[in-house]
Amino acid sequence: MAFHQGQSLADAVREATDILADAGVPSPRVDAELLADHLLGVGLGRLRAMLLGDSPAPEGYAELVSERAERVPLQHITGVAYFRHLELRVGPGVFVPRPETESVVQLVIDHVAGMAHPKVVDLGTGSGAIAGSIAQEVPGAEVHAVEYSPFAHAWAMRNLEPLGVTLIQGDLRDALPEHNGTFDVVVSNPPYIPAEAIPTEPEVALHDPPEALYGGGADGMELPTAAAASAARLLKSGGYFVMEHAEVQAAWIATMLKRTGRWSNVTTHLDLNGKERATSALLAGTVPDE
Ligand SMILES: C[S@@+](CC[C@H](N)C(=O)[O-])C[C@H]1O[C@@H](n2cnc3c(N)ncnc32)[C@H](O)[C@@H]1O
Repeated sequence: MAFHQGQSLADAVREATDILADAGVPSPRVDAELLADHLLGVGLGRLRAMLLGDSPAPEGYAELVSERAERVPLQHITGVAYFRHLELRVGPGVFVPRPETESVVQLVIDHVAGMAHPKVVDLGTGSGAIAGSIAQEVPGAEVHAVEYSPFAHAWAMRNLEPLGVTLIQGDLRDALPEHNGTFDVVVSNPPYIPAEAIPTEPEVALHDPPEALYGGGADGMELPTAAAASAARLLKSGGYFVMEHAEVQAAWIATMLKRTGRWSNVTTHLDLNGKERATSALLAGTVPDE
């Protein structure tokens, strides 16, 4: 690495951009700027103005750039992930929330519009992105969250406590039995990747926890199926279930929900890129005969 003492910020960011591009980082310039801003704390607008002058590169910049070049997620280096209106604390042991999940939150917010005190639970909350956003954006909501991993649970606790979310460490398969039949909404972004479909990006394959990625079974459908079964248990009659999934799983999930005979209005939703990335349904009133 050719960073040197007394180097200007503009030169250092240019060099960092080249290093990150060579390492295969998808957005090298933005990441180079965000790492510089992480050290300087001036905000991207002011940083870009500084890049036009002769400000010096901040101390420690080369180390952060080399970490990012090893494909450590940007959010693990800065310790922060931005999700809707939240600034979430993240790091090793917790799934970094993704932009497409913001659309899943919007589905919940649209559904509960007009309800005074909707009762919502987020199954597999990770950093708390979904539960925290609903608590923040839906005044009067009673929000619960369930997370199995002790590491993710610790991050979620940090993020969700100030937002008044009730968080428990537990298995989404049997969590919250004392709340059976009482929720207006069950939302989940469960692990759903098939066992063999190991992600190619090192940030995901090496740094997202495996328990957040793989859904179980060859098709990755064990936990999504369990989340749907728990939703049927936890929701009141007419309650709303929405779950994120991979694009290729959309048809399978819709069929699975319809087959149980417990759901009506099964609907597949597109994300901002036009991909079928979420499915919602309403819990039908009665349990059909087996
Ligand atoms: C894909 S991540 C989603 C995290 C977060 N909801 C989000 O959208 O950013 C799935 C989460 O489910 C958790 N998880 C996996 N198995 C679980 C289980 N049996 N019960 C509860 N949570 C589980 C993982 O630890 C992980 O935090």
